[in-house]
Amino acid sequence: MTPEFIYLDNAATTFPKPEGALEHMVELYKIKGVSPGRGGYDLAFEAEDIVFDVRSRLARLFNTPDPERVVFTSNATDSLNIALQGILKKDDHVVSTRLEHNSVLRPLYHLREKGHITYDLIDFDSSGCIDPDDISGAIKKNTKLVVINHVSNVLGAIQPIKEIGEICAKKGALLIVDAAQSAGIIPVNMADWNISAVAFTGHKSLLGPTGTGGLAVSPELEIEPVRFGGTGIDSESPVHNRIYPHRLEAGTVNMIGIIGLSEGLRYIETNGMESIHKKEMELLCRLRDGLSKLESVIDYCADDDENHAAVLTVNIRGIDPGDAGSILDADYGIAVRTGLHCAPHVHENIGTFPGGAVRFSIGPFNTAKHIDTAIEAMTEIDRFSRH
Ligand SMILES: Cc1ncc(COP(=O)(O)O)c(C=O)c1O
Repeated sequence: MTPEFIYLDNAATTFPKPEGALEHMVELYKIKGVSPGRGGYDLAFEAEDIVFDVRSRLARLFNTPDPERVVFTSNATDSLNIALQGILKKDDHVVSTRLEHNSVLRPLYHLREKGHITYDLIDFDSSGCIDPDDISGAIKKNTKLVVINHVSNVLGAIQPIKEIGEICAKKGALLIVDAAQSAGIIPVNMADWNISAVAFTGHKSLLGPTGTGGLAVSPELEIEPVRFGGTGIDSESPVHNRIYPHRLEAGTVNMIGIIGLSEGLRYIETNGMESIHKKEMELLCRLRDGLSKLESVIDYCADDDENHAAVLTVNIRGIDPGDAGSILDADYGIAVRTGLHCAPHVHENIGTFPGGAVRFSIGPFNTAKHIDTAIEAMTEIDRFSRH
């Protein structure tokens, strides 16, 4: 019998999406899917209202006052590029961390290679966390900003953003948060934590479709646009409009994707982030405790149940992580993510570079049965690895 497909790769993208969400998305797009804010007819205003409603709910989610400063992009990578390239100027210095995803590391590297900026990457401790004092110590006179992920996509550790925000405010540096792994599951509080901008993606814990994301910009920050084009207003001017959201949104937004994101948000608003996170963490602890009994399984930074998202990265001694992933898929129907997870420095630090590791990541629709099947599969692989 073909085993039931078990999806444990929710840190890559959540799958499935909430029941009925994609059907509602298509139904609404079928009747409202005109170009939002571009026409003078009622339907265009209605489409614009749908988009504005999603901006407003995201502004509320991130506790930032101005919905117009929630700009839509195609994903967190796009948002981080817009923020970093739009803020950083020649001779600026940046503080970031060795926890970062390539969506931060590569734009920084690109800007450094062009001779524009310098940066330092801070190390994390054995629980996968950054010490805010290390950030403080790395901030120099010309440090323009600190950019850090809120939750590591490899280790699941939640970073002390509030404390880092206090340091940035005191030292006059901007704070850009990569909330790709936290938006929708862990509170992000821009106003109270002194966050200058939050980059988020729509298709992970926000439960929307791929191709959606955004950048929430605080009222104190002005980002220079790096993309220019049509905004539907001021068409006579050769200059791209400076008013948010147009300032950072060039071209027509992903209307069907934004409707889908609205459906994802509806699930979160109805069920509550805290209870979704609690359920995921119960399953994560069940998985971690089950795997900890296996002799050849090593887990990484997985002890802290409190300060964690539902991500567990492991290796099996004697088995290449890529092979382990293929066995889990082919023999047990379990989808996990193997390799470096686009975060090479994390693997260098935990000693798993260049082969990487096996990442299990839990979503709102996983069940205890899924976890128990994964533990059984890993038990057999563990037995096999020792013979
Ligand atoms: C921490 C982190 N940042 C950024 C990204 C990039 O997200 P996207 O691929 O949606 O742009 C990811 C995706 O895995 C991530 O885990």
